[in-house]
Amino acid sequence: MKGIFPIDKFQNIQTPFYYYDANVLRGTLAAIKSEVGRYANYEVHYAVKANANAKVLNVIREQGFGADCVSGGEIAAAIRAGFPPHKIVFAGVGKADWEIKLGLEQDIFCFNVESVPELEVINELAQKYEKVARVAFRINPDVGAHTHANITTGLAENKFGISMQEMDTVIDLAQKLTHVQFIGLHFHIGSQILDMGDFVALCNRINELQDKLESRRILIEHINVGGGLGIDYGHPNRQAIPDFKAYFATYAGQLKLRSYQTLHFELGRAVVAQCGSLITRVLYVKQGTNKKFAILDAGMSDLLRPALYQAYHKIENITSEAPVEVYDVVGPICESSDVFGKAIDLNGTKRGDLIALRSAGAYGEIMASGYNCRELPKGYLSDELV
Ligand code: LLP
Repeated sequence: MKGIFPIDKFQNIQTPFYYYDANVLRGTLAAIKSEVGRYANYEVHYAVKANANAKVLNVIREQGFGADCVSGGEIAAAIRAGFPPHKIVFAGVGKADWEIKLGLEQDIFCFNVESVPELEVINELAQKYEKVARVAFRINPDVGAHTHANITTGLAENKFGISMQEMDTVIDLAQKLTHVQFIGLHFHIGSQILDMGDFVALCNRINELQDKLESRRILIEHINVGGGLGIDYGHPNRQAIPDFKAYFATYAGQLKLRSYQTLHFELGRAVVAQCGSLITRVLYVKQGTNKKFAILDAGMSDLLRPALYQAYHKIENITSEAPVEVYDVVGPICESSDVFGKAIDLNGTKRGDLIALRSAGAYGEIMASGYNCRELPKGYLSDELV
């Protein structure tokens, strides 16, 4: 065993596959629970979009978290994993009628509504099925986040949410409609955020909106600030557990939560990213004109983030102790963007070695595709490997 991986247990598993370290996952969940426990009325919903592997969901559910879903499929996955419907929130700019129906049938806690037409459809369907849907409005706070442009969501130019200008009209409308009950406001400014100042900016904006609403005697029971806490992709071992203390303390210090309010969080990446690695085998080492390529049996179909966002995942040869050499680490797919990293230092690498692409527990397995008619990678929890 080199480092943290049980390599002998990997020998009979077909590569590539996702490996989830249950101790890291449980440690992360425990850290969240202990930090959240410092404050009254904080609730965490795990953002299922980050990783919907049934075994991972099960561990998260066991610890009593709720679920944040963005599709009917995610609601079904959360329910299969045993998340109680009264802890499920449902967001998304384009909810289909069948998905709304599923949410109503399951009597989920809340629909995070992103537009007037959506509110009207939820009201209509709720009437048809003789239900009252609890709704929160996703407000676009026009707060930028210092992260990759593809994963900022809280700017006026993004497709998400209802503008602050429109908020009053939408609340008035909800109060007239008979089959929706307005219970809260929802926000989410982006993902992989490491600068707590971004969350402070969101808190300031929410404080302003609350004052404005109170002056109209509108009281909000639930505030949902979404997710977005980033992780340290550079140091998956040194900082396996994100800084939840600073994260929750930022909200506690900056957001003027009223005593009757509950504050909801939707953390995805920070919960699952560091527990997961994509384990892959070296197929060939090829000498190019002026560099060496390590060609893996995993490609962008298994882990899309580097190709899609130029994301960095630490790459390690977990079966070699040979002196370090430099490689471009690439996949087998017929696309020039199928590259995991250029000029990467790896212990001397040969055919058959195992490579770990680290910090891949979030937005890894779930974003895999069958491109090039490849099989989807499987995911294993360390608990189940003997
Ligand atoms: N709530 C809402 C409304 C969201 O849109 C998201 C993520 C989350 C919560 C969870 O955010 P987190 O805590 O994971 O940052 N595929 C991209 C990330 C897309 C995030 C989309 N929304 C990536 O691989 O970086």
